[in-house]
Parts: sequence; structure tokens; C-alpha cells
Amino acid sequence: MKDRIFSKLEEQGVSRALIRDVEQFRDSHRVPEQAADRLLEPSMPFFGKEILEMSMGALLVGENLLLSGSKATGKNVLAENLAWIFGRPLYSVSFHVNTDSSSLIGTDTFVNQEVCFREGPIYQCAVNGGFGVLDEINMAKNDAAAVLHAALDYRRMIDVPGYSRIFLDEATRFIGTMNYGYAGTRELNEALVSRFLVIDMPNLTEEVLHQLFQYQFPDLNPRAEEALSGLFLDFETKAENSEISTKPLDLRGLLAAVRLMKIGIPPVRALQMGIVNKSFDGFEKEIVQDIVATRIDEAWTAEDIFCKG
Ligand SMILES: Nc1ncnc2c1ncn2[C@@H]1O[C@H](COP(=O)(O)OP(=O)(O)O)[C@@H](O)[C@H]1O
Ligand SMILES: [Mg+2]
Repeated sequence: MKDRIFSKLEEQGVSRALIRDVEQFRDSHRVPEQAADRLLEPSMPFFGKEILEMSMGALLVGENLLLSGSKATGKNVLAENLAWIFGRPLYSVSFHVNTDSSSLIGTDTFVNQEVCFREGPIYQCAVNGGFGVLDEINMAKNDAAAVLHAALDYRRMIDVPGYSRIFLDEATRFIGTMNYGYAGTRELNEALVSRFLVIDMPNLTEEVLHQLFQYQFPDLNPRAEEALSGLFLDFETKAENSEISTKPLDLRGLLAAVRLMKIGIPPVRALQMGIVNKSFDGFEKEIVQDIVATRIDEAWTAEDIFCKG
């Protein structure tokens, strides 16, 4: 059972005792057949030993986890990694103004002229021993938050309107995420916060960026890597100082740009598509463009980015 994600845990020096406990958890909690298609291997390992240990520990002792932090700190990647490490089916719900209790729990629908209950993601997560990712949970309206109260505390229960209540499977856990950004943030209400253990996700560091680049692009040359991670850290600082928004702080866009370079698109143009053009405000776009120009030589081609091999 040594897959890429597990090997990275060991490589990063995550406590052997914790890994052993997680393996025990997996052995003692089977995955129901109807949920097997939700065992999803993450596309990226999560880098960060301490954060991994804290989150694995919290879930092992039966707690729910709230990941708060700015954009691109790997909150969703961590949640996906945890579901995979614990061997649990993954259910995700994005909270927004229209998320109401029936979109979480489920609702009556007609099938062949008969009323039947269509299970929502939280319902399925509850009964299948899933890991439920409550994405941007701070955007939840009261109606949606109310559903979660009894599910997230010691009652481990969900009231299904018109039906009887259901209890959470022993293996079910919830992982909330919230962008606690540089700009204004909508607070999560106190009653909900109290039902989680909270991890404040650290901003990306040069060290984590290095691991990320190495993992995705082992043939990236050191000079190019330095320029690209310097670029991202510049954006981080500028966003922190409110000189730019968090739009250019788009690691997914940066990695996509490097993929474009790999197939021969000139670096500056690839970065335009991956990052610069995401600022639709002309003033900000100019600033972002300037930052790119100071880090990335306009004359560079794909050959300047990758080692010959
Ligand atoms: N510590 C980390 N380990 C692995 N990937 C990370 C990490 N931090 C950020 N990333 C990368 O950043 C990008 C955004 O991650 P995501 O989980 O969506 O961030 P968030 O949900 O915090 O906005 C992904 O490409 C992810 O691989
Ligand atoms: Mg996210």
C-alpha cells in the first residue's frame, strides 16, 4: 500500500507512530461499496510535515478540522490528501449564498411518479464514513450552518426533515476551509468555530515552492526555479501590503504556465496567460506585468527553463 502520497509522508519525516495509527484506522474502517468510487488519489502530495502531523492527529482523535489561511496555501490539497491517507471517500461542498439545508442533506424528488429522497452530499458523507470538505464554510448562511451544528458536535447526528434522524458513521469527519485573506474576510460564526480544531495555514515559503517545483518539474533548471518562485513570493508580499489583489497569487496558474513553457511557449507569454491576464483591472495588470518583467527575461525561451536531458 505504498503509493506516492504515503511515500511522501515518510520522506518528509512524518511521525511513524502517527502513520501507524492511521494505518490502523484504515484497517478498522471498511469503505462501503457504493462509496468506493469516491476514493480519489490526489494529484499532488501536500508538503509540510508539521501541518500534516497536526491534521492527522486531530482526525485520529475524532475531531473535525478547520483550515484557515490565505489563498493558495494548499487547504484543499491538504483536505484531499487527508481523505486519501485515511482511506476515506471524499465529499465536497462549496458554500455560497445559495447553499441551503436541502442542497446539503437532500430533498424529495419524483421518480416514476413516486416521491423519493435524493441524498445530498452531507447525507452520503455521513452514512458512508466519508471525509466531507466544507469549502469556504464561512460563506454558509444560517440555514446551512444550522444543519451542521448537530453533525459537528458530540451528537454526530443529522435531522432529515420529514424523515428520521441519521447518525454519522464512526469514520466520518468534516474538514472546513476558509480563506482568511489579506482583504476583508467573512467571519465564521462562533458556534461553528467551536466545533472544530483550527489550523492556521502558513503562507507558501521558498522551501515548499522548491518541493512543489521539484515534484512537478524535476528537470526545471535552478536559475529558472529561482526566478519563478521569486516571482510568486513577490506577489505574496505585494498582496500582503495591499499593493495588488490576490488574483495574481495563483499557484495553479503559475504551474500551468510552466507546463506551457515545457511545450515551447515563450516564458513571458506563458506567464501572461497563467497570471498577468487574470487581473482585469488595467492598473493592477500593469504592476503585475512589471513584476514579471523584473524576474523573467523577455528573451528567455523554453530552453532557458529546463535542463537539457
Ligand atoms: N503545502 C503545499 N503542498 C502541496 N501543494 C501546495 C501546497 N501549498 C499550495 N499548494 C499548491 O497550490 C495550489 C492551490 O492549492 P489549494 O489547495 O487549492 O489552495 P487553497 O485551497 O488554500 O486556496 C495547488 O496547485 C497546490 O498543489
Ligand atoms: Mg481552496
